[in-house]
Amino acid sequence: MSTKLTQPAAARAVPGSSADWTVPAGWTRRHLLDLESLSAEELTIALDTAARFKLATADCSRKLPLLVGRTVANLFFENSTRTRTSFSLAARRLGADTVDFSSSGSSLSKGETVIDTAKNIEAMGVHCVIVRHRTPGTAQLLAHNLNAAVINAGDGAHEHPTQGLLDILSIRQRRGRIDGLTVALVGDIAHSRTARSNIWGLKKLGAHVIVCGPSTLVSRHWEQLGVEVAYDLDTILPRCDVLNLLRIQFERQSMRPFPSVREYALLYAMNSERMAKAKDDILIMAPGPINRGVEITPDVADGPHSVILEQVTNGLAVRMAILWLLLGQCA
Ligand code: NCD
Repeated sequence: MSTKLTQPAAARAVPGSSADWTVPAGWTRRHLLDLESLSAEELTIALDTAARFKLATADCSRKLPLLVGRTVANLFFENSTRTRTSFSLAARRLGADTVDFSSSGSSLSKGETVIDTAKNIEAMGVHCVIVRHRTPGTAQLLAHNLNAAVINAGDGAHEHPTQGLLDILSIRQRRGRIDGLTVALVGDIAHSRTARSNIWGLKKLGAHVIVCGPSTLVSRHWEQLGVEVAYDLDTILPRCDVLNLLRIQFERQSMRPFPSVREYALLYAMNSERMAKAKDDILIMAPGPINRGVEITPDVADGPHSVILEQVTNGLAVRMAILWLLLGQCA
């Protein structure tokens, strides 16, 4: 299966007015809760739409007023820099109003449930709720209880679908395809929602996925998802087209999964010595935040193979695409 940009010329054209934008017939979803349930066709629609938004807003000076009159609420019960800012900017670039909620200082501390909090925010005329919560399934729960569209911005270690999409878009833009590429996810696979979303999306679009890290963070059970499990980065490195370096999520771990950060870095950090053993055109990615010196050294993070900031740029386009796909049908 090829994921090359093969859409018809009309779809490739950079639009001049809102009349040029119609939600594709293949997209009927009201929520984006995961990538596990998306088909290859839906994934491709999301990626193609994001690519169009990226082109259409490349100079950053132009708003595309496709969602005027719509209100989007960020409900973040966990910390965030990139995802939250990116969703807010994406909504504003589409002309929507935004409202920001954070759990500290809210009525959650007075005993209000997440569903009640969300329903109260919805009652103020909100059309889309973007939710991040440490409990897996929170976005699904809200989708069952609200009329608003729900976007999962990360539910515990379960999924982070827009991160998966922006990672895949970044690979596709650099390589022109996903099919047939070997992509290694390296690091804290056990606690990474980014890993799960990447696995579902990449597999459906035909990539070979390797999960690599210490055995305390990478169980053999991952093989059941059709991915290769590896414990030695140096062995798999020469085969990889892309490395996505995942942060060690100390905040989600009850016990330290390796003796020391220094030992982890020795075995798994991407550094200049390892770069010398990698393919000449390897892509180095990370969802951020990066811990310099742990999963990646500064020279590699800032080096010519790194697309880490390009991922952030693509995140904005992906979030514009998802907001428009979910809200554009009735705008
Ligand atoms: C990721 C997250 O929060 O799941 N970051 C992000 O959304 N950009 C990964 C992480 O926290 O390491």
